[in-house]
Order: sequence, then C-alpha cells, then structure tokens
Amino acid sequence: MGRASASRPLEEMTEPADPLSPRLGAVVLAAGQGTRMRSRLPKVLHPLAGQPMVDHVLAAVMAAGAAEALLVVGREAAEVRAALDGRVRFVEQAKPLGTGDAVRCACAELDASLERVLVVYGDTPLLTGETLRVLATRDPAAAVTMLTMVVADPAGYGRLVRDAAGRVCRLVEDADASGPQREIREVNVGAYVFNAAWLRGALSSLRRSASGEYYLTDLIASAADAGHSVATVQLDDPIEGLGVNDRVQLATAEAVLRERVRERLMRSGVTLIDPASTFVDSTVEVGPDTVLHPHTFLCGHTRVGAGCEIGPSSQVVDTEVGDRCRIWWSVLEEAVLADEVQVGPFSHLRPGARLARGVTLGNYAEVKNSTIGENVQQHHFSYIGDAEVGKDSNIGAGTITCNYDGENKLRTEIGERVFIGSDTMLVAPLKIGSDSATGAGTVVVKDVPEGKLVVGVPGRVVRDRVPPAAAEDNPADASAERPAEPEARSP
Ligand code: UD1
Ligand code: CA
Repeated sequence: MGRASASRPLEEMTEPADPLSPRLGAVVLAAGQGTRMRSRLPKVLHPLAGQPMVDHVLAAVMAAGAAEALLVVGREAAEVRAALDGRVRFVEQAKPLGTGDAVRCACAELDASLERVLVVYGDTPLLTGETLRVLATRDPAAAVTMLTMVVADPAGYGRLVRDAAGRVCRLVEDADASGPQREIREVNVGAYVFNAAWLRGALSSLRRSASGEYYLTDLIASAADAGHSVATVQLDDPIEGLGVNDRVQLATAEAVLRERVRERLMRSGVTLIDPASTFVDSTVEVGPDTVLHPHTFLCGHTRVGAGCEIGPSSQVVDTEVGDRCRIWWSVLEEAVLADEVQVGPFSHLRPGARLARGVTLGNYAEVKNSTIGENVQQHHFSYIGDAEVGKDSNIGAGTITCNYDGENKLRTEIGERVFIGSDTMLVAPLKIGSDSATGAGTVVVKDVPEGKLVVGVPGRVVRDRVPPAAAEDNPADASAERPAEPEARSP
C-alpha cells in the first residue's frame, strides 16, 4: 500500500501509537438513509455472505485493534439496534445531516483518553482488518491518515485533490466536482484515522456544504489549510474500497465476500468441486479433507468436521456436522450430527434433530426435535418428531410419530434395538420398550413393554419378540415377527 504525503506533524498532540493500545477508538457510520437501496430494510442490515453488512465492517474494525466501536445510527434505527444489541455501543444521530455531523455525535460519546479515532462507513464491507491496521499504523504524527484508491470510474466517490508537489489539499464530493476534477481517479474510500484531539476541534468548526450536509471529507481541507499533515494509504486492489449504495453494488460485494470464503476454505484443505456453485457463509467453518459438491449451501453458524462429503444439492443451516459424514440432496436446519452419519438423498432435518454416530437416514426421511441413537437406520418416507430413538433401532418405511393432537406436541420414546415395522403409526405420548417390534401397518396407541411384538389396529401385544439371533436359527419365527410386512429391514 502506497505513498504518504506529509507536512507539519502534530507532535504536540500525538504520542507514540500502538494499534493494539486501548487508545484507538472506532466510529462506524450507519445513520444514512440508504435511499439508493430502495429498501425498507436499513442498508447496513442487508445480508452479505450470511451476515448483516455492518458486521463485516465491525469485524474489520476490531481486527484492526480498536479498543471499542461506536455505531452511529439514525433515530428510526430500532431494527439495527435489535440486530446488533450487546455487540456494539450505539450513538444516535438525530437527523442525517451528513457524515461530519455523524462523527460529531459520536465524538461526544468517545472516551476522552482515546488518542486516535478510526472512522469507517457501515457501507464499505470489503475492507479488511489488515488494511485498517495499516491505516492505523502508517503515520502516527498525521492529523489524519485517509484510505484512497484509484478506480477506473470515480462516479459516486469523493475526488482527492493534490497540489503540484503531490500533497493532499482537499476532497471534492462527486456532486460538487466539476470540470477536470471529475476526471480525477484517485478517490476517497471513506476510512480515516484521526488524531482525536485535532478531530474534536476541527469538527466544531465544520460548516454546512452547499447541499446542506456537514461533510466529514471537508476536514481534509481543514487539516491541509492549517498546515497539518494529511497522510494517505492507497489500496492495492480498489475492489476492497467498494461502497455499497445500491443493489448492484450489493451483489458485487456479495460475490467478492463469497469468493474470499471459498478461497479460505480451499487453502485450509477443503475441496470444492465447483467453487462457482458452492455458497458458504462467512460464519461457517469446514474441516480439512471435506469435499463440497456442486450446489451446496452452508449457512449461518454451521460447522462441518473433517473428511465429510456434502452435496450435491444440499442446504445446511446452523448445523453441526461431525467427521466423516455424508450429506447429499438434503436440507438440514439447526441439527447436530455426530461422526459417520449419512443423510440423504432427500432427507429433511429440522431444528433439534440430533443424530448419534453411525445413523443413516435417507429417501424422504424427516426428523424434528428428536434424538436418534447410534446406528439407527431410518429410510423411506418417515417422520420422527419430538422423539427419542435408542441405538441400533430400525425405523421402517412409512413410519410416523403422530406427535401432534391438534393442540399439543407429544413425545415418543423408542428403546434400543427396536424394530419398527413398515407403515407403523406411533400415536404419542408413547413408550416402546427396548428389543420390541411392531408389525407392518400397526397403529400403536399404548406403551409397549420390553421385548414384545405388537401388531394390528389398534396395536396389541401378541407375544414375546423373537430376538434376531434366535430368529436366524428358526426362519419360521422370523417370518412370524413380521406378520404383514412385505419388506424387511432396510438395506
Ligand atoms: C461518502 C464520502 C465520499 C466517499 C464515499 C466512499 C462523505 C461526505 N462522502 O460518500 O467522499 O468517496 O463515501 O464510499 O463522507 N451516514 C451517517 N449519517 C449521515 C450521512 C451518512 O451516518 O448523516 C453514513 C451512512 O449510513 C453511510 C456512510 O455514512 O454508511 C456514508 O454515507 P453515504 O451517504 O453512503 O456517502 P457517499 O455518498 O457514499
Ligand atoms: Ca456510500
């Protein structure tokens, strides 16, 4: 990153800077109206790579070493406050009178001992912590160090006016730029590190611009005119300075952030068969040697372990996935999978689904708010809701937990090594003892003791269940245990 221009330093106001020192404060501006978005949602809450836009800015600010961040919000910012509550301190700007006014509102709330103040806009989500750190350390003696970039099309950005010697003189806003100024391609990104004492003084003498707004950018001329040094840091890649003012820029920012996530994953040992059709939120973590197949969406607070295969065509939201799992053509929401679990094709895990090691689930299986024990198999058109299933049990084709009586959600408990025959209706509340079995088409309305066979509508205990080992010795017993079941245990 580029050159610095300097003149009279501010020794009298400045002590040696350490970006990690608690004396760097940050102000993030988010009180603008965001008119160009044409949205009811505040601009800074528009999601990018799964997080509100402003979260990316706050993360960069904290990574740069800011001791604390103040977020300037408008009066009608209940949504912003709700989305970020507890994560940042808010300052209200009563009217959107411009970026200079916004910083003035924040200054009143800033800790008086802060030595320097980092100001960034909530609509520049591609800035990295590393860039802001460079900005904060570049020139401790400058009244202001500002981030610049050189762009092919400067429309919308403030132009940087330098004198013949290359010193920064002032910033001219896009709306006010005329003649040759319009051709200036060196522009203001909207990230600054100010000497705190100088900033407070300069803000109090800020005048309204012709547009009626107080421009923060007018402080550049204030510093230069007073003979203070204005340092600049130039971005190597101008895309990092993208300001999001409309939905076209929103989509550009989205694409850049997604690409960064994909690159981070690939560099950390994750295979993406087709990066272009793989969408991973910036909040997601994926372990090494996991393979993401095309049309995979990993969203929210999802964590995937090592050695998994995810996709093709799967959406995994706020879910924990262990190691060596396989998920394909399925949708998972707020679920927890232990190691070596298989899900799919066409399964749906809903909130509260917890699958223990070795569970296999497929072909239109749905699980909600249920704990499924080790090695349970559940294939073929089934619904398990509000239930607990013990290990080594088998859920036959078409099994349904009838968990809702029209008013309440009721629980089903299934023991270990239970064999639920095809098309069994389990009418909750219900307990099925370990080692028991149901015949095909059974409607179970009463608790079943351990080791019994239940058949019929309504289900009746007909005898002890013949344990699978004994049944193998005597095929007649085995068929008796499945009185009307055309299909035995799933493959
Ligand atoms: C601003 C800069 C411009 C720079 C560009 C970079 C000014 C005057 N202009 O222009 O030099 O090139 O960003 O993207 O600063 N905000 C408030 N209160 C207000 C007005 C704005 O908090 O009263 C916030 C907005 O929510 C936004 C940020 O400040 O996050 C920038 O405002 P915006 O209107 O987008 O400024 P630009 O026209 O993009
Ligand atoms: Ca902007």
